[in-house]
Amino acid sequence: MRKFSITIPATSANNGPGFDSTGIAVSRYLELHVEPSNHWVFEHDSPYLEPNPQAEKHYIYFIANKIAKQYDKDLPPAKVIVTSDIPLARGLGSSASAVVAGIELANQLCDLGLTDRDKLKLATSFEGHPDNVAPAIFGGFVISAQFSNDDIDYIKLPKLELDTVIYIPNVELKTSESRKVLPDSFSRSDATAASGISNLMLTALMEKNYELAGKMMERDLFHEPYRAKLIPNYDFIKAEAKKLGAYGTVISGAGPTMISFVEKNKGTELAKAMQAKLENYDVSNALLDDTGLCVSFMD
Ligand code: HSE
Repeated sequence: MRKFSITIPATSANNGPGFDSTGIAVSRYLELHVEPSNHWVFEHDSPYLEPNPQAEKHYIYFIANKIAKQYDKDLPPAKVIVTSDIPLARGLGSSASAVVAGIELANQLCDLGLTDRDKLKLATSFEGHPDNVAPAIFGGFVISAQFSNDDIDYIKLPKLELDTVIYIPNVELKTSESRKVLPDSFSRSDATAASGISNLMLTALMEKNYELAGKMMERDLFHEPYRAKLIPNYDFIKAEAKKLGAYGTVISGAGPTMISFVEKNKGTELAKAMQAKLENYDVSNALLDDTGLCVSFMD
């Protein structure tokens, strides 16, 4: 077995009105460095991960083992060193990245020959919706729709000329909690208004009309109005970022992180100014990652 590494970006789902169907990959990464071993070992090298994980209880191992079994293979043992700058339970797709990592680990160790579309279907079956796993696999801004386990369509938008700024508070919010506050149904008039906003947001992005895209991001009616109360400094961050030139600021995934979209090469400046206003936050510029899941072999 050759040594290899697997890299998966963090992701930010929803982007306002693209609830459960759109997401972007951003420049924070989960990396697995894999080498031969006669038994399973996981090591963590990340401030966000507990120091001494047990291999057989590891979520990435669980996923990899499940995939191997699904394809009637035995997962050969390996030593896996995990590095990550994706915080957990903050709305940056940490679980989607881990699912994609487990699938790719099984793909490499068992030589499964999975296509990207296979990986998307498998990852969605674990995550329940494709919005985070699609950009984790393909990079960029991806729109996806799932009709059944075996039927998912997606489109990756042409590369966007944008930076993002992410605002990570020092509190966690579980997706399950953040989904509990959402309504089960919408009236026809609310659904029509919400999907009109989403349609316009996506078309504006395709036309590189970022002013309009940002405006529509901030007008979401599917989830932001219900979740705003769960997100620390929701109104403050939106208003201050707008004053400083952001096109739009939204909840990242299910929160509690927020994310601003800003003119290319302006992210660092906006992050610096916003960090000064937000104590107890990790505010940083994140670039859009256009590569997604990536495997490289050593020697
Ligand atoms: N679309 C999901 C949500 C993202 O907003 O709940 C988190 O998995």
